Amino acid sequence: MEPRAGLNEQEPHVARMYDYYLGGKDHYPADAEAAEQVLAALPDVRLAAQQNRGFIHRVTRFLAGEAGVRQFLDIGTGIPTAPNLHQVAQEQAPEARVVYVDNDPVVLAHARALMVGTPEGRTDYIQADATRPEEILEAARRTLDFDRPIGLSLVALLNFVPGADDVTETLVHALPPGSYLAMTYLTGDFDPEGVAATAAVYRERGLFCEPRDKAGIATLFKGLDLLEPGLVPIHRWRPPIEPPASMDTKIPGYAGVARKP
Ligand SMILES: C[S@@+](CC[C@H](N)C(=O)[O-])C[C@H]1O[C@@H](n2cnc3c(N)ncnc32)[C@H](O)[C@@H]1O
Repeated sequence: MEPRAGLNEQEPHVARMYDYYLGGKDHYPADAEAAEQVLAALPDVRLAAQQNRGFIHRVTRFLAGEAGVRQFLDIGTGIPTAPNLHQVAQEQAPEARVVYVDNDPVVLAHARALMVGTPEGRTDYIQADATRPEEILEAARRTLDFDRPIGLSLVALLNFVPGADDVTETLVHALPPGSYLAMTYLTGDFDPEGVAATAAVYRERGLFCEPRDKAGIATLFKGLDLLEPGLVPIHRWRPPIEPPASMDTKIPGYAGVARKP
């Protein structure tokens, strides 16, 4: 199954289904139909998508704040949803530079108009496929200095990418010491049936989707130092307030943040 790049309104796309979960307006009937199938399998997928966005905000605030990171590479950006990563980063550090990457033409169409940052900082958008990380790295060098720490964000991306281990290894290898990897990844650990049915919805429509268990996701952080609290359910990565225990079966993803030594 090859990842799709062309804009085809008749076939669902990952970014547009995610837009549907988040209550956005940038999807077509085919995306809504597939997303409704996922909602039947995972009734709390909207909450999960919101929690995933919340993680992006928390981790970006941490990286641009306490960790002092001034450069970000966000692959699998999605259709812009305010606040976007550069807005959170530049609120902490106006000079922050952010490079966005996605392979969906709908994301490209929005990116140019919406990703306008501070005068001191810079944003760039690269239309590329995560299965070709060398191309992404080459294009990112236009904006980012690979001799200074970079925050690599692979959030809700890798479970849709064939060869995710090699992709991650190539990207991490290119980062200088002191860089960070922030990730969320789909898992069936908490609701095996719902997540298996969800993955089937994507696969039946030709979209790669591979949930993993915790140990399988942990291998993606090979060679890196996981920060506290480790690899945890998305809503449990440094939440502002203690989430209710009832959420634990509803959010089918792990989050982790690691530093390159
Ligand atoms: C579930 S959305 C997540 C969006 C955003 N990272 C977030 O967490 O809110 C996954 C995004 O990854 C993109 N994507 C999926 N496969 C990709 C690939 N092979 N190359 C680049 N982007 C990809 C999709 O187009 C979509 O925008």
